[in-house]
Amino acid sequence: MKTRLLIISSFLAILILNSCTEEDPIPPVATATPAEQTITSGAPTSIALTSSVTGTTFTWTVELTGVSGGAAGSGSSIAQTLTATGGAAGTATYTITPAANGTSGTPIKVKITVNPPKVTFVADIKPLLTASCTPCHMPGGANPNKWDDYTSVKNKISVILDRVQREPTAAGFMPKGGTKLSAANIALLNKWVADGVLEK
Ligand code: HEC
Repeated sequence: MKTRLLIISSFLAILILNSCTEEDPIPPVATATPAEQTITSGAPTSIALTSSVTGTTFTWTVELTGVSGGAAGSGSSIAQTLTATGGAAGTATYTITPAANGTSGTPIKVKITVNPPKVTFVADIKPLLTASCTPCHMPGGANPNKWDDYTSVKNKISVILDRVQREPTAAGFMPKGGTKLSAANIALLNKWVADGVLEK
């Protein structure tokens, strides 16, 4: 009798153990490489997704703050071109869920910081100075300082910043006899310095 009970209970135990391994596949653990990323506006993300379980698929959603171009999707890498929509850096936070054998793993988050494009002489500063400092500081103009020339502007940027931030009634105010530059344009000149006085 005792033997029979022992046999039955062992049999039950084996049954339970078997059913456990069959019905509960191990959930996949996702890894994102790199775990976070900083890009410049207009560049693509490059996040590789891998898992502890072969055959895992990944789906993601994304939360955007001051950024456009990110979208929900699926695949084994996230390559989306993101653009900072404001003057400041924005973020895209991806929530990635791995799934394998019908089981989802714990979602992971990847934060992308999207910096605004760097201010450059060719793209930003030359057009600004051409619009505001003509004709005096352009070729053929009366003043020997030519603001269409990268090196001249780079060498004189601190004097330029001083002059354009004076009050229009103050001596030495620039543009001479003109209208004070907008706060946004003065901020652009300052950001050009902060970004490293790049030509292009
Ligand atoms: C109407 C003509 C005129 C315009 C427009 C003008 N300037 Fe001038 N600028 C001058 C003259 C004249 C001088 C020389 C007298 C002086 O230093 O104030 C000068 C001098 C300067 C100097 C001093 C250069 C040095 O070597 O010390 C800077 C900097 C300057 N201008 C920047 C600007 C900027 C930036 C603008 C446009 C936002 C501008 N200017 C627009 C006529 C002009």
